Amino acid sequence: KTVSAVGSRCLLGLKLSCTGVSGPCYLQKVKTNIWNGCKPLVYTPNIAFSTYRKQFIRAFSLKYTYEDAFGLARDNPEEFWSEAAEGITWFEQFVGGKMNMCYNAVDRHVENGRGDQAAVIYDSPVTGTKQVITYREVQEQASRLAGVLVRHGVKTGDLVVIYMPMVPQAMFTMLACARIGATHSLIFGGFASKELSVRIDHAKPKLLVTASFGVEPGRRVEYIPLVEKALELSSHKPHKVLIYNRPSMEKVSLHPDLSLDWEEEMATARPHNCVSVPAHHPLYVLYTSGTTGTPKVWWAASDLGWVVGHSYICYGPLLHGNTTVLYEGKPVGTPDPGAFFRVMSEHGTASMFTAPTAIRAIRQQDPQAEHGKQYPLSRLRNLFVAGERCDIETLEWAKRSFGVPVLDHWWQTESGSSITASCVGLGCSRTPPAGTAGKAVPGYNVTVIDDEMQQVKPRTLGNIVVKLPLPPGAALSLWQNQTLFKELYFTKFPGYYDTMDAGFVDEEGFLYIMSRSDVHRCPRRGSVLLHSAVVDCDVVGLEDPLKGHVPLALCVLRNDCQRSADVLVNEMVKSVRDTIGPVGAFKKVVFVKALPKTRSGKIPRSSLANLVNHKPYEISPTIEDPEVFKDIEKVLRETVKEPGK
Ligand code: COA
Ligand code: AMP
Repeated sequence: KTVSAVGSRCLLGLKLSCTGVSGPCYLQKVKTNIWNGCKPLVYTPNIAFSTYRKQFIRAFSLKYTYEDAFGLARDNPEEFWSEAAEGITWFEQFVGGKMNMCYNAVDRHVENGRGDQAAVIYDSPVTGTKQVITYREVQEQASRLAGVLVRHGVKTGDLVVIYMPMVPQAMFTMLACARIGATHSLIFGGFASKELSVRIDHAKPKLLVTASFGVEPGRRVEYIPLVEKALELSSHKPHKVLIYNRPSMEKVSLHPDLSLDWEEEMATARPHNCVSVPAHHPLYVLYTSGTTGTPKVWWAASDLGWVVGHSYICYGPLLHGNTTVLYEGKPVGTPDPGAFFRVMSEHGTASMFTAPTAIRAIRQQDPQAEHGKQYPLSRLRNLFVAGERCDIETLEWAKRSFGVPVLDHWWQTESGSSITASCVGLGCSRTPPAGTAGKAVPGYNVTVIDDEMQQVKPRTLGNIVVKLPLPPGAALSLWQNQTLFKELYFTKFPGYYDTMDAGFVDEEGFLYIMSRSDVHRCPRRGSVLLHSAVVDCDVVGLEDPLKGHVPLALCVLRNDCQRSADVLVNEMVKSVRDTIGPVGAFKKVVFVKALPKTRSGKIPRSSLANLVNHKPYEISPTIEDPEVFKDIEKVLRETVKEPGK
């Protein structure tokens, strides 16, 4: 996903996901209709973990083909999800089932004799650290930390904000929260104070857990000043801030009334057991943007702060009893474009996830993937990509360079798992047509409709929607705002979940995602408008060979502004970095005489985006002054290069 998409979607509000957040979701029976009265949730009998894998594989890989599984999930969701729920250990069964995510992800593996198996491989080129952490060690850390949280007043139902880099302690905190039924909200380290304060005010955490420093190539991220500033800006204050001081770096703290030190707290902590919570108990809030055989190592090269980080780095692999790689580094520069190959080769990764942007970054620096050639990838079977459209050139390059099928699939923060994919375990082809994000995953009845809610013909662009009910694991609400949740996603097309993505299906049911169909507000626009010299501004996506899109601000300056363009641009870039954070990826500004507006004052975003990307654009009859487009075109010709030039 382009970072711009993440930022802009943040303003939609907080997303809430239920306990069933793992990749392949197998939880409680499905709700039949979210709005018109929920059917009571019914749970299937508990089956001990020792038989779970056999059951699961028999049920899903041998018994069903993809077509059978999809059909059953669509036509008889209760039967389908009852069977799937056998993969979970339930504390209480039947109606009102109870379970605990941390127990399912950690404790049951230890109880079943797999305590010495690697749970997490922490690989951090930025600090020169490599560490293997077993399931027993994860259990010890999560249970002691749960004791610390409880000692400081965190109860089931409270919320804990986690603002940490990619260190194992971030995962321990997620699991410790799940252990005691506290909801966690992990905030990506690339966001700055203002964005952090907005989330603190919204989520109202009882406790905030952070770290002393993050390590980015070439600079340190100082979390403490960022937290201090955020707390100054927010009206809600957490009771305490727990600080993990990273080894071999200076020790930091906050005001003594607020500050708790991780090491000191853990030294005296009493382990806490897993509490039993209802299956629909909220596990996390996230803003928008084998039994005896060798366990498979899985690596999701993302960040815990994204939805794929939650499901693919932490909960999904641990639920399956796999080993997950936690990588604190980049695809390039840590130290070179061979980094992904090195990690996969060294840890024997069987499957990997990453975003197309990361592949483009490697390709740009090392077009022949020379750095990777020294690392044999004998155990790698599949590479999965998602988060943004994967262009065919990048897909083909990745296939050649990694030597395995590259499978695009489609996610949303709201879904908590993939909506379309190539379900390899259900026998789907590992060579789907280029450009597709796969077929609908069983449980997601995806269809493409026009604005009048008529299903469109194959290969006709339309609104991608999902027929209700949604499967377990999908978001249940916007955080404490059920009304807005209903309004945003379920009102425009009654009976469907509106994904707000546009695309088409082909004759065989493969889905192609083309673009987001919603027009969302862009937070960078707000930050630029704060500048005293700017009277009007809009930010659009400029196509970029590496990142897909980068933000471009079109600004109208005050008539009396005397400052140089360079100074103004530097000030605006600083303002966005201070408010949103470096992840805003904001660096480009052009100054124009005016912005096009409709008579009702709206900016025609899609025309403007086409214009800046040198594509044909439409001037609708409602535009007040069509000449404005010509002026912008002239400015862009002088300042912004056409792609490829
Ligand atoms: N803490 C602080 N700053 C961070 C950060 C973090 N955790 N992560 C990124 N940043 C900073 C970077 O240092 C950079 O700052 P700079 O402008 O001073 O150089 C800025 O944010 C922009 O970062 P980004 O555009 O992400 O570039 P990158 O080189 O840090 O990372 C990728 C490149 C490809 C690794 C990264 O973009 C990525 O992992 N993308 C895929 C995300 C994903 O999994 N998406 C699917 C989500 S559903
Ligand atoms: P987020 O909720 O921030 O993770 O962003 C989800 C959005 O990213 C989706 O609505 C799509 O617009 C986009 N997206 C995710 N995966 C893909 C994909 N495989 N192809 C195209 N777009 C994608």
